[in-house]
Amino acid sequence: MIATRLVVDRDFVVGDLDRRVFGTFVEHMGRCVYTGIYEPDHPDADARGYRKDVMELTRELGPTIVRYPGGNFLSGYNWEDGVGPRDKRPRRLDLAWYSTETNQFGTNEFIDWCRELGIEPMYGVNLGTRGPDHARHFIEYCNHPSGTALSDLRREHGYEKPHDIKFWCLGNEMDGPWQICRKTADEYGRAALETAKLMRMVDPTIQLAACGSSTHDMATYGAWEDRVLDHCFEQVDFISLHTYFENRKDSTAEFFGNIEIMNLFIKEIVAVADSVAARKHSSKRIMLSFDEWNVWYKARSINDLRKPGWPEAPRLIEEVYNHEDALVVGGALITMMNNADRVKTACLAQLVNVIGPIMTEPGGKAWRQTIFYPFSQASKFGHGRVLQPIIESPSYEAETFPEIPYLCAAVVDDRASGTTTIFALNRHLTDEMTLDIELRGLGTTRTLDHAIELHHTNMKAVNTVDAPLTVAPSANTNVSVDGERIRAVFKPGSWNVIVTTAR
Ligand code: AHR
Repeated sequence: MIATRLVVDRDFVVGDLDRRVFGTFVEHMGRCVYTGIYEPDHPDADARGYRKDVMELTRELGPTIVRYPGGNFLSGYNWEDGVGPRDKRPRRLDLAWYSTETNQFGTNEFIDWCRELGIEPMYGVNLGTRGPDHARHFIEYCNHPSGTALSDLRREHGYEKPHDIKFWCLGNEMDGPWQICRKTADEYGRAALETAKLMRMVDPTIQLAACGSSTHDMATYGAWEDRVLDHCFEQVDFISLHTYFENRKDSTAEFFGNIEIMNLFIKEIVAVADSVAARKHSSKRIMLSFDEWNVWYKARSINDLRKPGWPEAPRLIEEVYNHEDALVVGGALITMMNNADRVKTACLAQLVNVIGPIMTEPGGKAWRQTIFYPFSQASKFGHGRVLQPIIESPSYEAETFPEIPYLCAAVVDDRASGTTTIFALNRHLTDEMTLDIELRGLGTTRTLDHAIELHHTNMKAVNTVDAPLTVAPSANTNVSVDGERIRAVFKPGSWNVIVTTAR
């Protein structure tokens, strides 16, 4: 048994938690759209072709914002191909994923799907094969009320009211050699600046994110953000971060180090963005959009990334998530919450089938992967302000990160309801953990609303279509509340959520 302690104080606040950190991502890639969210021939599809079982699971998952339409796909995409009568939409080669894109699903279908689920859409503009001219036309089509060729075209397509899309990504991973029409930092920074200017002229109410580095490991990491922001600082609100965690050494203890690296990544990008601000004598603060993150390493071979013959909706990167992956996803959510002052949007990549928390079979069932649970619980209970967690915990040393505390935790407090929620990982793989929590100044009479754990004795346990509940949450009966104090026992290698309300 290892002993740990967690103290928070009502007056020591990291920041307001922007609910947009619980976002996900839908890319035209593999089976994310086709046979994922959209499958008109499925027995459970609605009149518009949306799979109702996937909608139900998406509701339960609880994403607040969803990024669309890519990803690498974005850098070769013509938005015009995906609007208007379906029988007139062209079939195109998608050079990002060596697939055939039928364009039977596009901008308006995605907006309808989002509206039905109460999710905010996050759109991207193509700064690979295209640039500012296409972006200004696209936003005019989407957000301008009426009286111009493009806004009236949208109305002709059945959308009288503007879509009013607020959050826009200026391209995708433009530093990556794999990107269609990759750019240098100077080329991209200039393109982002001019595109942002034009888009804001059409709709001054939007928020814009410039592309940061594709991974923490890029050779140009840091310098890229510095150059890009040097060009477009005044015109953008966010810089993006992307990361995919890997367990290449097949060591859970090493794998957990990724959570600490994510924290470092955030702090470093904040430092770079603020140094650009300093150089410009500006008090403006650029916020962070972690708009692609997840575990992804098992389904990453060339065979997972492309299939021969330009197929439609092939099975690409259908990563099967195990218990340890769910713990790392939980740790990533804790890390982003603990950086609530600067991380204001984030997208678990992706939503369905393609490295997704939800899996489907074409014509068949849909089920929850292991990583579904920490995300759905964080989204359900993560409301309010994040409090500064003071953590006392023994640590271990790993090659991925020199000092990893066994306890990883975030505390979110909702003043309106009096509810305080503790999200915690026990990263010890063999020992139970006792946690003494002190909630200072948050009320002395409390009820315990929920104590939930995600635990499995086998780190490699997975959920499948035939055994969908192998890894699933259960109640933790080892949690007690006494005034400002909470005492909990966490199982080895577990994700835990404690929800308590002051009366
Ligand atoms: O999410 C899969 C791919 O990973 C995205 O298309 C790309 O942006 C990233 O490299």
